[in-house]
Amino acid sequence: GRRALSVRASGAINPDIKKDVEKVVDTVVVPADLGGKPQAAYCRCWRSKKFPACDGSHVAHNKDTGDNVSPAGEGRTCL
Ligand code: FES
Repeated sequence: GRRALSVRASGAINPDIKKDVEKVVDTVVVPADLGGKPQAAYCRCWRSKKFPACDGSHVAHNKDTGDNVSPAGEGRTCL
């Protein structure tokens, strides 16, 4: 859409998350013992409605744009 075009034209990668702050900073508490189990997946596409957690929005983003992004996380795979 129009917004996607303007984001791309400006070089910005974040279309609408916390645009009122100069820099988006999120912190998470990492359990001392991860136990080798999946804990979380963190969004790297800036399209998640649950940012900084991945909500799967990268799938549509990749399909729409030809991009190939996915979340970062411990032991988690995501389509
Ligand atoms: Fe952004 Fe999954 S929603 S990486």
